[in-house]
Amino acid sequence: MRKTASSSRIQPKTYRVKNFGCQMNVYDGERMAEMLSGQGIAPAPEGQDPDLVVLNTCHIREKAAEKVYSDIGRLIKGKKTAPLIAVAGCVAQAEGEEIMARAPAVSMVVGPQAYHQLPAMIDRAVGGARSTNTDMPADTKFAALPRRRKSAPSAFLTIQEGCDKFCTYCVVPYTRGTEISRPISALLNEAELLVEAGAREITLLGQNVNAWSGEDTKGHRIGLAGLIRALAKLPDLQRIRYTTSHPGDMDDALIAAHGEIDKLMPYLHLPVQSGNDRVLKAMNRSHTADSYLKLLDRFRAVRPDIALSGDFIVGFPGETEAEFADTLALVDAVGYAAAYSFKYSARPGTPAATMDGQIERAVMDERLQRLQASLNRDQLAFNAASVGKTCDVLVERKGKFPGQLLGKSPWLQSVHFTGEAAIGDMVTVDLTEAMGSSLGGHLVKDTGE
Ligand code: SAH
Ligand code: SF4
Ligand code: F3S
Repeated sequence: MRKTASSSRIQPKTYRVKNFGCQMNVYDGERMAEMLSGQGIAPAPEGQDPDLVVLNTCHIREKAAEKVYSDIGRLIKGKKTAPLIAVAGCVAQAEGEEIMARAPAVSMVVGPQAYHQLPAMIDRAVGGARSTNTDMPADTKFAALPRRRKSAPSAFLTIQEGCDKFCTYCVVPYTRGTEISRPISALLNEAELLVEAGAREITLLGQNVNAWSGEDTKGHRIGLAGLIRALAKLPDLQRIRYTTSHPGDMDDALIAAHGEIDKLMPYLHLPVQSGNDRVLKAMNRSHTADSYLKLLDRFRAVRPDIALSGDFIVGFPGETEAEFADTLALVDAVGYAAAYSFKYSARPGTPAATMDGQIERAVMDERLQRLQASLNRDQLAFNAASVGKTCDVLVERKGKFPGQLLGKSPWLQSVHFTGEAAIGDMVTVDLTEAMGSSLGGHLVKDTGE
């Protein structure tokens, strides 16, 4: 921990946590919010300036990191008393020293493995001391966090953190550290508390979620499938999902689980990044286009209706037009239900940032457009195929219009529908229309618990 002096401040009474980046940050943001509430600091009401702001940042692409500095600027601009500012998350981990030097308005810099120390850092900030904590102790944070007491119908649960894969473009191994798995006892306990607090669906999270490993009660090694089986025994938990998987960590047990466990939803997010083997090798991905496609076939064999989703990067250094065409061909072969696609962004300190053949922005823009046209076409086709059918929907919140509710289908499609139901209900919906990224319909009946 490093400290430098600034002027003393009033004790914050309200806070706001602003999340950027992935679902793991959403989970961390919730845990920080719970911790701050436990310290007697209240969430700032909508429209009101908070006394303390936590920017829970993402470092994955250049734009994501730049947002932090523009946000800090906005927070202090024209303010007589600016809020206390804590920068948390992956930018904090990667650029802590730089933030402290560049942004005097920031009192605290706290990494993703150290945020349980935030209350002590706030006390110091109130006393006028700036502090940085980017320590990476293995798995001590969770034990120091307060019990889960509140949950939305659909909850996140981080089961695994960190990454040992070192894809050549990616900052995550540096910002989140080495792969660690939380013990099963802690996970079952947290899942039970979430369900008691109203969760009906839990999405298990990890940078490499299928690298999770633990021990069952007899001391036998189990993988993600074993954990999912244990969670499926919780009576009031109706749906289980997991994300993000790595193709290299897939095992037979997890594939089999998709054919055997009803509560495990028919959806798989499995990033591929590129459809060309030379590019995949240069990215240090452990799969080829063919081994990836064969893996998907095995999931489809046990769960023919499984919805597939992926991540893509266009314009990796040296990517030729023909190599990019292989990515388009892979997309055509898979028929994704959803996908995330990005322009390659050179990240300082990663091997790809200094590779030859960095691609011009205009070329990346054009490739991304073509890729997204294919992905959008497939997503619309996937959604259109649902029209005329009924499906289970977990009601998550009210929609924009009176009488409208919003929830998710088993295939993770957003469904907005009309009818009477309570938040947290599992209902059956008649699907009548398909949009690009959602479905519309009306309630058939409440299917209850
Ligand atoms: N652990 C997951 C996801 C990590 S980050 C995995 O291995 O797939 C989420 C996505 O961001 C990645 O899948 C990748 O598509 C994208 N990404 C990561 N680094 C990037 C970079 N430097 N430029 C552009 N996209 C990037
Ligand atoms: Fe990044 Fe690769 Fe690790 Fe995913 S597997 S977090 S893309 S290094
Ligand atoms: Fe971003 Fe960190 Fe997640 S870099 S994508 S917030 S792991």
